Amino acid sequence: MSPRPAVNPEHEQPKHLSRPALKRLLVWLRPHRRAIALNVSLTLVLTAVELAVPQLLQTAIDGVVGATKALAVAAETEKAAIVGGAWDRILVVTGVFVGLFGLSQVVRFFEIRRTSTFAQWFMYQMRGKYFAHLHRLSPAFYDKWKAGQLIARGTSDMDALQDAVSWAPNHITAAVFQLVGVVAVMLWKDWVLFLAVFPILPVLVLLTRRFRVRATEAWRQVRAQTGRLTANVAESIAGARVIQAFAREAKNMAIFSNLTSDLYTTRVETQRVHNRYMIGIGCLRLYATVVVILMGSYRVSRGTATPGEVAAFLAYAAMFFRPIDMLSHLYNQLLHSLAALDRVIEVLDTEPQIVDRPSAVNPADFQGAVTFDHVTFEYKEGDRILHDVSFRARPGEVIALVGPTGAGKTTMCRLISRFYETQQGSVRIDDWDVKNIALDALHRRTGIVLQENFLFSGTVMDNIRYGRPSATDGEVIECARQIGSHRAVEALPKGYQTEVGERGESLSAGQRQLICFTRAMLADPRILILDEATSSVDTQAELEIQDALRQLTERRTCFIVAHRLSTVHRADRVLVVEDGRITEEGPHAELLAAGGRYAAMYKEFIRAE
Ligand SMILES: Nc1ncnc2c1ncn2[C@@H]1O[C@H](COP(=O)(O)OP(=O)(O)O)[C@@H](O)[C@H]1O
Ligand SMILES: [Mg+2]
Repeated sequence: MSPRPAVNPEHEQPKHLSRPALKRLLVWLRPHRRAIALNVSLTLVLTAVELAVPQLLQTAIDGVVGATKALAVAAETEKAAIVGGAWDRILVVTGVFVGLFGLSQVVRFFEIRRTSTFAQWFMYQMRGKYFAHLHRLSPAFYDKWKAGQLIARGTSDMDALQDAVSWAPNHITAAVFQLVGVVAVMLWKDWVLFLAVFPILPVLVLLTRRFRVRATEAWRQVRAQTGRLTANVAESIAGARVIQAFAREAKNMAIFSNLTSDLYTTRVETQRVHNRYMIGIGCLRLYATVVVILMGSYRVSRGTATPGEVAAFLAYAAMFFRPIDMLSHLYNQLLHSLAALDRVIEVLDTEPQIVDRPSAVNPADFQGAVTFDHVTFEYKEGDRILHDVSFRARPGEVIALVGPTGAGKTTMCRLISRFYETQQGSVRIDDWDVKNIALDALHRRTGIVLQENFLFSGTVMDNIRYGRPSATDGEVIECARQIGSHRAVEALPKGYQTEVGERGESLSAGQRQLICFTRAMLADPRILILDEATSSVDTQAELEIQDALRQLTERRTCFIVAHRLSTVHRADRVLVVEDGRITEEGPHAELLAAGGRYAAMYKEFIRAE
């Protein structure tokens, strides 16, 4: 009924820290250990400064209290000296405080600068690594993966990883150091008082842990529900006309309102969870404060503690809370970062299936003979697509592949370019098995034009030049003249400088195809494959590109997959492909005369056109 996509499994809450991901991250970070160690030590300085502040407070308070007491019993003549001494002490404490504060600001400045620069630099490398890897992967990889998954891994998962490499090492160190430091200082100052405050620690840990679990679950739900809502809105916009045509507005509105009310409930719940946690923390703080004040005051009254000590102790007890909260937050963040890293690694660890063999040849050029020698092929094991296909195309021959959809024509074309590899038999160019030709050489000398041709964002000039990046503007224009696309390009709003592709001018199918033909022509491949290249072009436009097609197929071995007679006509030879086998083969006229499968298809063609 409603457009409710299943919750993205990639949004699920990870349960454990992924060890393989952690190991890999440490390996990647290893070369940078000095930089990280320096960043971490800056953090340690900052934490040490924080730990020193209550001590300063104590010195100041006790100084003033001591002076007040001394004044009460002092002779008139000594009073000025006592007040002066107290002032000196306060000035020294203030001076030390200002000094430490200044120092910590300078240290913080460098900590932030170094750490964030390092993290961005690391991420820059990672993104490059990921993108470069995507380019190395074979087409079979892209059969298995959805574009959305690969994009998410390169963007949102990368961002999640950033959290782990940027502040996590500093924050973990700071939190641990602060916690250990506070406990040590409190024990050293007054272990009895410490024991009185201590019980809050396990309660705090439990409370925080429970809060994290609940909050994370609530936030996961929020994300999932927001995802559904976004999908619903997107779908409603995309399908607005259909929705109105079928008078489905009320129904869609109801679906939308269900989704938003779910989101409302979950959002309110996240707020409540947080609220309860804050109250819990407040109670613990209250307990610690009351205990320290009561016991401390008692001690002061008995003369076993100074007011400054009690004040410092209060300040230290307050420092208990932050590191625990921070550690639990960091643990959570690390769970997510490492789970994200796991997904990135899964892509990075996929090896391209088709790579150059060590013995690969790099011929200067091809003659252009193409041989299929008992070729058997399957995409998925057990699902055979081509059965023992054999034929030979002479250099310069134009071969038409005809046959019903799903017969295996495109598959044959892919094998020539070695986008996939045969399981049995071989595909040869001249006398080389394509598996033994360097991929770069192979792809440079074989050209493919497909039905859905891809134009990159950029100008017409850029897109044509893609065929041979070293070509000058003059060569591009000369090539367009030769193939007969020059006039059509000149007629565009900005001629060769017209922007095409995603954000560019919308060109007609015929215009796009002309650009692709020119691109193929400029590349000047020895072997050219046109896989339904003219199918999306209407008959009128096809007449216009016929000339270009004739130019393009001259002087090279061509494979043309087409449903149009006009194109098939021109072939030297026709191969009829059915169900992964070549069932008929010969020149157009001969096959027609023979009155077999091709003749029957031909009659269908004529009726259709
Ligand atoms: N990437 C792929 N993965 C798995 N099966 C595929 C893939 N591409 C095509 N096939 C299957 O191979 C068979 C032949 O397809 P194809 O070569 O595209 O036929 P044609 O071009 O003659 O229409 C079809 O059954 C198709 O479903
Ligand atoms: Mg096809």
